[in-house]
Amino acid sequence: MKPYRVAPIAGSDITPESVYLQRRGFLRGLGLLAPLLASGCSSGGDAGAPADSGPSGAVLPATRNSRWDSKEELTSWRDATSYNNYYEFGTGKGDPARHAGRFQPQPWTVEVAGHAEVIGRFSLEDLLKPHTLEERIYRHRCVEAWSMVIPWIGIPLGECLKRFKPTSRAKYVAFTTVNRPQEMPGLAYDVLDWPYREALRIDEAMHPLAMLAVGLYGRALPNQNGAPLRLVVPWKYGFKGAKSIVRIEFWENQPSTSWNIAGPSEYGFYSNVNPAVDHPRWTQSSERRIAGSGGSLFAKRIATLPFNGYADEVASLYAGMNLRANY
Ligand code: MTE
Repeated sequence: MKPYRVAPIAGSDITPESVYLQRRGFLRGLGLLAPLLASGCSSGGDAGAPADSGPSGAVLPATRNSRWDSKEELTSWRDATSYNNYYEFGTGKGDPARHAGRFQPQPWTVEVAGHAEVIGRFSLEDLLKPHTLEERIYRHRCVEAWSMVIPWIGIPLGECLKRFKPTSRAKYVAFTTVNRPQEMPGLAYDVLDWPYREALRIDEAMHPLAMLAVGLYGRALPNQNGAPLRLVVPWKYGFKGAKSIVRIEFWENQPSTSWNIAGPSEYGFYSNVNPAVDHPRWTQSSERRIAGSGGSLFAKRIATLPFNGYADEVASLYAGMNLRANY
């Protein structure tokens, strides 16, 4: 497989240390930076095995956005933080919680590149600074036919992307996630074409439902859930939700993505939740809802909804497209 090439960063793109430190001071004043920094302390708390007793880790203040609130029963903190997919830490569902303790998500920078007027390297604080953190309760549907209901904290992805002024050539946006073999034991195995990468069409990325998440259940993201910054695209299968993003690039042509390279007939570029299109090895018409005290083993099966229940909001993005061919 072709290795993914990351373009070198020009010195002029890097935030000078003095400017970076000033921004940190500003954000500390807002009380925003402290919780995110605390989340990076992987010496205990959520980064290893999750506590039985409910949410833990740094509190992250956010304004509730009730526009898309799901009224369904929430998944427990314990299930959401111990039953994960994050192959850089191993392919077992418990591996991320078990092995993500060494991962250091702070300090964090994201490189922005490609067809945009504003490109360069930005600290996490820079990315978040102009935005108010929102809490949104979304359904989270994995391609493996389990689902959760999770209160995410983050910012609208589109609002963040607009700041980079994508040009008319920017038809897609690609997300590359972190690659640190010293901290991520799963990278020793060739299960995917590392680094993990995902992409969206630009209009999908600009849709107000798409989020860049930094927390869940009122707390900063635990390492196993994608600290410090991940995508949440609730009408798509969970694998579109790239975790621990380090690079955002605006592309003219459709970018290649890790799961599509691994299994093109199983994981399409669009990956909209679609009960009418089965995965070649299992049905997608129903899902095991991991919620409340149901736990992952005894979760009940419910019908899967087109676009994961967000059809009213997003179906128009795909008007005229054959959604069987474009799975
Ligand atoms: N991001 C990275 N970097 N590596 C991964 O293995 N797995 C994806 C996605 N993001 C993955 C990733 C898959 S398959 C799913 S279903 C979701 O993360 C799971 O998110 P969760 O563990 O918070 O439920």
